[in-house]
Amino acid sequence: MISVTEHASLIGLNTFGIKAGARYLVQLDEEKDVQEFLSSPLARHQPLLILGSGSNILFINDFNGVIVHPRIRGIEVESSVSGHEVIIKAAAGEPWDDFVGYCVKRDFGGLENLSLIPGSVGACPVQNIGAYGVEVSGAIEKVEGVDLQTGRKQIFSSKKCMFGYRDSVFKHEWKDRLLIMSVTFRLTRNHVFSTRYAELERELDNFAETSPDTIRQAVIAIRRRKLPDPSDLGNAGSFFKNPIVSKDKAASLLRTFPTMPRFDAADGQVKLSAAWLIEKSGWKARKLGNAGTYKKQPLILVNHGNASGAEILELAKQISRTVMNRFAIPLETEVRIV
Ligand code: FAD
Ligand code: EPU
Repeated sequence: MISVTEHASLIGLNTFGIKAGARYLVQLDEEKDVQEFLSSPLARHQPLLILGSGSNILFINDFNGVIVHPRIRGIEVESSVSGHEVIIKAAAGEPWDDFVGYCVKRDFGGLENLSLIPGSVGACPVQNIGAYGVEVSGAIEKVEGVDLQTGRKQIFSSKKCMFGYRDSVFKHEWKDRLLIMSVTFRLTRNHVFSTRYAELERELDNFAETSPDTIRQAVIAIRRRKLPDPSDLGNAGSFFKNPIVSKDKAASLLRTFPTMPRFDAADGQVKLSAAWLIEKSGWKARKLGNAGTYKKQPLILVNHGNASGAEILELAKQISRTVMNRFAIPLETEVRIV
């Protein structure tokens, strides 16, 4: 049965720890709850927002509409297609890192670099989560969901998801329309590891062998050192995307900043480091009221306690403005602002 809370607090449902409220919060615990929700008047109430664990969302106001929060659990190993691969399906409400742990424990490879990313399985395809040289799109076989406008089931092959760097169709035409119910992955038994990320390569020197388990341990160690734990310091990970610029633009910046970090991107373009641009713009470890940039990583905006969403957004705007003035590069937000 669906559970509906009127005037719900969202403080435990966003990792920034913003004190926002929702007019209606609808929790779905079982697959059949979706049909019950669709036949209730709440399904026609607007606006509507789909919320996972709120680790990539900034609420700047109370949400005067319906928040749908899928908590459906379940993991199914569907088949072992060949001796080399495993097809595995996880429900939207599974906590992402528990699912990664489940796969690694069984020596299913492909997701280990994505260890310790907060959030739910249902959200992983939305921005095509990525870390330490891997994007989840590389392991996704299909995404299944329900179209909240028609009530029809929809299946998206990986190709139909239109994955890009922190991007997919679920952020555009299907945003708040497709309720993702499950994600199916194609994982490996004969592993091909991705260990070219310099920091990961160094960390792996501490282990005698390379396996999904040691990569997971190495990634967890790096992340625990570098990233703030939202239960101590509210945040939503990287606030902006790393900007992708033309080769000419990168070359012109390199003449002034020869050590500027840069990475090859698709179509001959160059990915720059937003953290570096922000640091060079003088914003590292700064505070603006109760909001600030994290002392070790200025791309992460933090809530020093009691910050409002508007305060965090004001800080983000000031940072973007400074980066624009200094480098003529627009920063695009990764975090969804609601
Ligand atoms: P939410 O924040 O609740 O939602 C995110 C978006 O997905 C929203 O648009 C929402 O509407 C949509 N959505 C959520 N669930 C569903 C569903 N079932 N159906 C349809 N739409 C849905 N991200 C990375 O990519 N790499 C990282 O390394 C990384 N590190 C992080 C570190 C920290 C400390 C934190 C706090 C965040 C980090 N993130 C990272 C961001 C975040 O973990 C991911 O974006 C995650 O996938 C968000 O999951 P969520 O369940 O919290 O989604
Ligand atoms: N840097 C600085 N100053 C700093 C920190 C970093 O100049 O204080 C520069 C360094 O040159 C460093 C570079 O920034 O080499 C990159 O830093 P880092 O390795 O921390 O990665 P990132 O580019 O800032 C991205 C993702 C993270 C992901 C890590 C690891 C984006 C927007 N962010 O961060 O994802 O965990 O790489 O792969 O692509 C997220 O999306 O929320 C997220 C945390």
